[in-house]
Amino acid sequence: AHTIPEILLQALRQARHVVVFSGAGISAESGVPTFRDAQTGLWSQFRAEDLATAEAYRQDKLLVWRWYQWRRQLLAQAQPNAGHHAIAALEQYVPQVTVITQNVDDLHQQSGSTCVLALHGNLRENICFACRRPGHAGPDDDTPPRCLLCGGSLRPNVVWFGEQLPTAIYRAAEQAAADCDLFLIIGTSGLVMPAASLPQLAQRKGATIALINTEATAHQDLAQHTLLGPSGTWLPALLAQAWPPSGTA
Ligand code: APR
Repeated sequence: AHTIPEILLQALRQARHVVVFSGAGISAESGVPTFRDAQTGLWSQFRAEDLATAEAYRQDKLLVWRWYQWRRQLLAQAQPNAGHHAIAALEQYVPQVTVITQNVDDLHQQSGSTCVLALHGNLRENICFACRRPGHAGPDDDTPPRCLLCGGSLRPNVVWFGEQLPTAIYRAAEQAAADCDLFLIIGTSGLVMPAASLPQLAQRKGATIALINTEATAHQDLAQHTLLGPSGTWLPALLAQAWPPSGTA
């Protein structure tokens, strides 16, 4: 049932540099609630878009901090799934693999991918709201700890609405998109800019574009190949069919 077109397998086998561009969908099978459907229980009266801003933090540090501590608790139970593992395993076959992710869940890094460009930051890390230097907080801190260097309040190291993406990371993502020969779009609705413009850049520079998603998305027209269904099934199939275990080829 999960047969992959030979022409896509060829593109993968011959690729010098593969870029994986992922969104919330790749972590769905790890049970990570997406940004918007995470609003359950105690937090259902709040909208994520209203909490994930510098303005909200300025007005009510405790509220925003506690929301993030709760999200971190949910995330602590999540493990990388077969999709993350297949992407990490790609590095055994392809000379260069760059993972560009919009996710803040750290699951690509945990599955062993070595080059991960986290465009929207990392929920497990903290930085100072004032000086932006890294700081440490534990799961039991129910108020934001102080920065040891300047005394400011710590905040999660994620990109909030209205904030710029980290410049160096975004530039590296653009370079990877322009350089790769295969660009895999996985589990993203493709609606959030500027991240959503990277597939176009890859296409302009001549990369083969393939897409894995459970449904049609904004990037549909760019992709030469679409694999419709869960990434936790398609990605292992892609590897197994491109490089069959010896004896079964
Ligand atoms: N396998 C593949 N794709 C899936 C799966 C799955 N098992 N489950 C869901 N999807 C797809 C959905 O069809 C949808 O297209 O994943 C996509 C998730 O889209 P969004 O929830 O919009 O997530 P994302 O594209 O990562 O959002 C971008 O927006 O919420 C902000 O900053 C946040 O980084 C996030 C950004």
